[in-house]
Amino acid sequence: MLPVEIKPGITWVGVNDRITELFEGLWTIRQEGVSYNSYLIRDDKTVVIDLCKSMLTGEFVTQLEDLVPLEKIDFVVVNHMEPDHTGALRTLIKKAPQVQIIGTAKTRDMLREFYGITENVRAVADGETIDLGHHTLRFVVAPFLHWPETMMTYEEKEQILFSCDAFGSYGALNGSIFDDLVDDLNWYEQEALRYYTNIVAIFPKPVRKALEKLANVPVQILAPSHGLVWRKDPKRIIDLYDRWSNLATEPADPGVTMIYASMYGNSEAVMEAVAQGVVDAGLPLKIFNISKTPMSYILPHLLTRNGVLIGAPTYEGGLFPEMAAAMRVAEGKRMYNRKAAYFGSHAWAGGAEREFRALAQELQWEVLDTFNFVGTPSREELTKAREFGRTFASKLK
Ligand code: FEO
Repeated sequence: MLPVEIKPGITWVGVNDRITELFEGLWTIRQEGVSYNSYLIRDDKTVVIDLCKSMLTGEFVTQLEDLVPLEKIDFVVVNHMEPDHTGALRTLIKKAPQVQIIGTAKTRDMLREFYGITENVRAVADGETIDLGHHTLRFVVAPFLHWPETMMTYEEKEQILFSCDAFGSYGALNGSIFDDLVDDLNWYEQEALRYYTNIVAIFPKPVRKALEKLANVPVQILAPSHGLVWRKDPKRIIDLYDRWSNLATEPADPGVTMIYASMYGNSEAVMEAVAQGVVDAGLPLKIFNISKTPMSYILPHLLTRNGVLIGAPTYEGGLFPEMAAAMRVAEGKRMYNRKAAYFGSHAWAGGAEREFRALAQELQWEVLDTFNFVGTPSREELTKAREFGRTFASKLK
């Protein structure tokens, strides 16, 4: 995309990434893409805030050079050291050796460890400001949003918060960077939730702390380093973060995330009946086949619904491996305190339920019920499965 003016003197100079298939090598963005938002402030001093992944350095530098001679750049603000925001740094400072890099003290250490950069690095403290002429930047240290070194940058004149990962989303920018110019705002919100659960949800307390810190900071424009720039309604995404981070300790909405696996259709047949039971009870239901759906898409539902139904057969004396792996990912992302139930088949000996229970304990899930069957479910068992689903869902209300 071409540069986009946000306010006089403040320009989005980011790049879309429609090439990467797995963000962090883990989280699928094959269809959605992602943007690395970078911002240029031209005042008495010239500043670039956050950069991009290394493979897009050429496009990014061209973008910058169109607007400003690189030797005129005074500062590069590194809000967050992760290479999706700093991959272009070494090339940039080779072309613009006068640049002073600004970040936290931990950023200074990481710049050395990741890039061997030790010169022209200035560590700033929480609340420290830099006067650019007509604009003032204030640095807001926000550890663990997403790494321990992370900070945000607040521009005081226009009241713009450059928040880096926080409030960001997957999804390339499709023709506009602004929340008021896209017709699929709901899609970006869903992608922000997916980004939150995949990347940020492991740190709910730091998110709460950052939100408290920002509570009295007037934000006219929220400019993260992934996804939309929120200028019409920045409060919308802040409120969503408030809700999502609270879900680590507060009850989620009643509803069922059903994750299932089936080798030959038997657990799937029971899944269909259990699903009918959940709907009989009047609860929202979302069904995922773990063999087909990456966890990236399942985590948002685990976060926002209070019930989990795990359906999977016994495999070699334990839980179907993809399901066990999924539960471990859920544990890693701290999808704690859900109400859960298990159903599944076995051929000659069980074992899936035992492993499910052990994993559920680690997840602090309260197991309300289980339903085991052997081989192909009978009509009677399917009827029982429907009742199993209805009873479980009724307890979530
Ligand atoms: Fe967008 Fe934590 O990197």
